[in-house]
Amino acid sequence: MGPLAVTQLLGLISLAVALDNGLLKTPPMGWMAWERFRCDTDCKDDPENCISEALFRDTADRLAEDGWKELGYEYVIIDDCWMSRLRDEHGRLQPDPSRFPGGIAKLARYIHDRGLKLGIYADMGTHTCMGFPGTTLDKIEIDAQTFASWGVDYLKFDGCSSNPVEHMLGYPLMSKALNATGRPMAYSCSWPVYIGGLPPNVNYSFLGDICHLWRNYYDIQDSWDSVQGIVEWFSNNQDDLQPAAGPGRWNDPDMLIIGNFGLSVDQARSQMALWAIMAAPLIMSNDLRNLDNSARAILQNKVAIAINQDSMGIQGRRLLQEKNHIEVYWRPLSHSASVLVFLSRRTDMPYLYHTSLAKLEYDAGNYEAYDVFTGSTVTGLNATTEFTFSVNPSGVVMWYVYPEQQSKQTEMLHDQHNKASQFAFHKAKPGHLTVL
Ligand code: GLA
Repeated sequence: MGPLAVTQLLGLISLAVALDNGLLKTPPMGWMAWERFRCDTDCKDDPENCISEALFRDTADRLAEDGWKELGYEYVIIDDCWMSRLRDEHGRLQPDPSRFPGGIAKLARYIHDRGLKLGIYADMGTHTCMGFPGTTLDKIEIDAQTFASWGVDYLKFDGCSSNPVEHMLGYPLMSKALNATGRPMAYSCSWPVYIGGLPPNVNYSFLGDICHLWRNYYDIQDSWDSVQGIVEWFSNNQDDLQPAAGPGRWNDPDMLIIGNFGLSVDQARSQMALWAIMAAPLIMSNDLRNLDNSARAILQNKVAIAINQDSMGIQGRRLLQEKNHIEVYWRPLSHSASVLVFLSRRTDMPYLYHTSLAKLEYDAGNYEAYDVFTGSTVTGLNATTEFTFSVNPSGVVMWYVYPEQQSKQTEMLHDQHNKASQFAFHKAKPGHLTVL
């Protein structure tokens, strides 16, 4: 590309107004079809699981009736494979008529009537990743208008079947086109994934001006390996990624797979804890009609959700990778609180980990800690108190830590969880707590 072309491109881009519609001051929460239901279009042999309006209605019913909505899970997001293979006679995208006979506007009403919001998927390029009609540059405006006319609240804009110049033009143009509809829509951009996810290819401060969230890295799959790979990449690159996040601008390590087939209970807790550390969107992709109680309890853990949704919106970091394969993650939270996640990357047996808050760079002072998954409280900690606890292989211990004098402020969190029992601990030696 010559210098003139670059200047022209940048000129075009600067025309795009920032997407300033006040949405997603905290990371979005909801449900998305892709990881669990993929591109299953076989409604004849698999009517329960195919991508059809019934799946989204069923999911909306579950979100509204099973306590999810009250916790903040509000977006029902259609992913790829909803479209007809052809645009209509006006050049508009249209849903597959056999799988969405009522149309998207009717589905949006159904979802809105239950106090929920509708998300949809499109692709900046000639085709979606599964080969359905894409949104080329000339179709951006009409597609934004169509989504707004249907009552869509969230757009996931993928980037298959296009080149970096088209991405550079298309993502800002879609931002501008969504704004121009006058309908507030959350805008999720997959752009970074297609250009390596890191600076200098990705300009995160610009991205934050035009998108509310963005996919940085490869697709999540239903396995602990996949979760670990994602966490590893985000942590290895945290110096570039962590400062990009804040209210209205979020890194997206992809969907929660809790409740599917690939994670043990410990691993499911680990995903929930690490997604809270990363200030990640809490977008489940599972079958809410068939969810076991342990997955439900993890996904509905009020304190984990409150930590994820902390109003300061500061993304956390990996603090330590110990030789013993315990990793420590930390995120600052409002009211001088913070969260610590101790992750075991071991594969042998529960590991007794010894540390103190001072070793984790906490200032001198007295603290309490609330164990998010057991509901117990650890009192009488000061920064130098040595403590010991057990972390399961591929599991976590997740502590909400707050200054002791502020324990009143956290009563609300405790009440919510309704399980504020005291940890059984004994002083193994002066100043040393063994948390059992
Ligand atoms: C890409 C995205 C996924 C999903 C599929 C659909 O792989 O990253 O999240 O949307 O396309 O085809």
